[in-house]
Amino acid sequence: MLANQKFPEGFLWGAATSSHQVEGGNTNNDWYQAEKTGQVPPAGQACDSYHRFEGDFDLAQSLGHNCHRLSLEWSRIEPRPGEFDQTEIDHYKIVLKSLKAHHLKSFVTLWHFTTPIWMTEQGGWEDKRSVEYFERYAKKCAQEFGNLVDFWAPFNESTIYGFEGYLEGKWPPFKQGDYLGCLRFVWRQLQAHRVAYDAIKRILPEAKVGPTINFCSFEPYRPNNMLDRFSTWLNSTLYNKVILSALKNHSDYIGCNYYFHKHVMFKLRASKLFLADNIPNNLWVSDLGWEIYPRGIYEVLMSLKSYGKPIYITENGLADAWDNSRQKLIAETLAWVKQALDEGVDVRSYLQWSLLDNYEWSEGFGPRFGLVAVDYEHDLKRTVRPSAIWFKEYIEKT
Ligand code: BGC
Repeated sequence: MLANQKFPEGFLWGAATSSHQVEGGNTNNDWYQAEKTGQVPPAGQACDSYHRFEGDFDLAQSLGHNCHRLSLEWSRIEPRPGEFDQTEIDHYKIVLKSLKAHHLKSFVTLWHFTTPIWMTEQGGWEDKRSVEYFERYAKKCAQEFGNLVDFWAPFNESTIYGFEGYLEGKWPPFKQGDYLGCLRFVWRQLQAHRVAYDAIKRILPEAKVGPTINFCSFEPYRPNNMLDRFSTWLNSTLYNKVILSALKNHSDYIGCNYYFHKHVMFKLRASKLFLADNIPNNLWVSDLGWEIYPRGIYEVLMSLKSYGKPIYITENGLADAWDNSRQKLIAETLAWVKQALDEGVDVRSYLQWSLLDNYEWSEGFGPRFGLVAVDYEHDLKRTVRPSAIWFKEYIEKT
């Protein structure tokens, strides 16, 4: 199956991480506050990548990667409103230079789920000042990091955050069923994306700036049921298309994170129209019980074709402590990506989530998403998983 998997020249291969999930020692953001009150598990020193990033990039390079995605921790860069910490900025400059030295192109996310405490104290994303705060931060990042960054992503997965933080109540600010709050949150992040896009482009006209969005594959639970079909259409329009359409003049590329296949069943309660997901029995699932459905990436990519923008797969992966399914997931997913490429979709990268096992938000350190295992009991020792070696050989063969 792999012999003819030739990908275009310059295709980007690698893995992704985010600051709070790997760095350790982040004590100035809303997650840390929630960790202290026991609302979510403590992230503590996480993978200590704040200090061990050189070794982690050595690993990425040795695994054949030519690209790496990470996020900057806003609460380190701007610990107090309008006050920037030059030591932390210099730290991230060293990190980004190290990526260059390792021949890794960089995708840099400015906000990956963590918000400085000072901002949450002023009403967080529900307060309209959040837009100008984010613009100021984005501008500073563009001035300081400039061409050290190859691809800018103001936000990661605003819709997922809105869902977990305002409807499910699992992530800060822990609101449940707050539809208005959710809409306000997503709306502010859209506005903030637009002003950040403009701010970055004013300083770096050639910069490539785009959203990273979680796209799902949807299908009706009962294929012949009109209501299930309607509900599927509604879900996929609201979930997959709204953000993209709202940002169409403020994105140079589309960052695509793909994990989920939803079997949509119509529910009478309007609030559930968005969420109705019934998982049939006997599916191939990850350690978190999430269905593994590689074909979905093809469906998502085909649906993005009409936007006419380059598409970068910025996340795909699974929790798989024993590495039983990771290789198969990557192989089958890439076969579907190749299919989309052959049908004219402009796909330019494939990044695995994640380089390392890390802090999986409200799930703590249990789920193991890494190409590289981290031994939390023994000085955070890194051990490359067999699927990572297989992935390296795959990259070399293309
Ligand atoms: C997020 C990551 C998360 C991963 C696995 C993605 O949606 O960007 O932060 O760890 O999914 O759940």
